Amino acid sequence: MHEETVLITGANRGLGRELARQYAASGSRVLACCRDLHAASPIAGNVLWRALDTGNEESITALAHELHGEAIDILVNNAAQRGDRGGLDALRTDDFLATLRVNTLGPLLMVKAFLPHLARGRRRIVANVSSRAGSVAEGLDADGDYAYRCSKAALNIATAKLAFDHGLIFLALHPGWVKTDMGGAEAQVPVTASAQGLRSVIDTAGPEMSGSFHDFTGTPIAW
Ligand SMILES: NC(=O)c1ccc[n+]([C@@H]2O[C@H](COP(=O)([O-])OP(=O)(O)OC[C@H]3O[C@@H](n4cnc5c(N)ncnc54)[C@H](OP(=O)(O)O)[C@@H]3O)[C@@H](O)[C@H]2O)c1
Repeated sequence: MHEETVLITGANRGLGRELARQYAASGSRVLACCRDLHAASPIAGNVLWRALDTGNEESITALAHELHGEAIDILVNNAAQRGDRGGLDALRTDDFLATLRVNTLGPLLMVKAFLPHLARGRRRIVANVSSRAGSVAEGLDADGDYAYRCSKAALNIATAKLAFDHGLIFLALHPGWVKTDMGGAEAQVPVTASAQGLRSVIDTAGPEMSGSFHDFTGTPIAW
């Protein structure tokens, strides 16, 4: 039987770790990636930890080279950072660009580097963990994080453009407001439920879904 391989970025904590745990528990082979391997505690199952800083192109290409010839069924671009939430007054060039580097350029460079591995896989799915905060139609609220919002809106158009250009399945996914370091204590969705929902959307995705934006319950989100 074909063993499904899933590569997950930012797998050492939060949603990425829970996705890695669940995929491994369900029998997948997981390439769990994080920028500091010392920050990664073990996960039961077929889990291989690899160092990966998605804000560093050399780190991305080095891992792709190391995994040359391997098949990857599902790439989950999960790693992301928040920018300064203080609105226009707090807008700083370095913070804005650092956030776009990790949240938008990182996933694009991951796809560029791992297209050959995905082409060898059976599922050929790229799940870009985006956010409703990047939706022009549904995402506006009081949070003043211009960098994060712009980075996720840019990730959304990148997802649609990749789907237009390439014959893989590209998904933009909103995980809900999740109880993680990023989501904070007041978040509404347990990380287990968010990861279960995302896995369900990913696992049932066919070519007709490529280039779409859904939340973790499978509900479409307007761009
Ligand atoms: N939580 C929410 O409510 C929420 C809502 C909407 C969307 N999302 C999205 O869901 C995804 C997961 O978020 P989360 O809540 O799990 O966030 P989190 O708890 O803050 O975890 C973020 C993860 O990304 C990693 N990361 C950050 N920069 C990285 C880099 N340059 N290279 C590699 N890894 C890096 C972190 O690694 P380190 O430990 O090394 O920092 C960590 O593993 C993100 O894409 C986020 O935007 C979350």
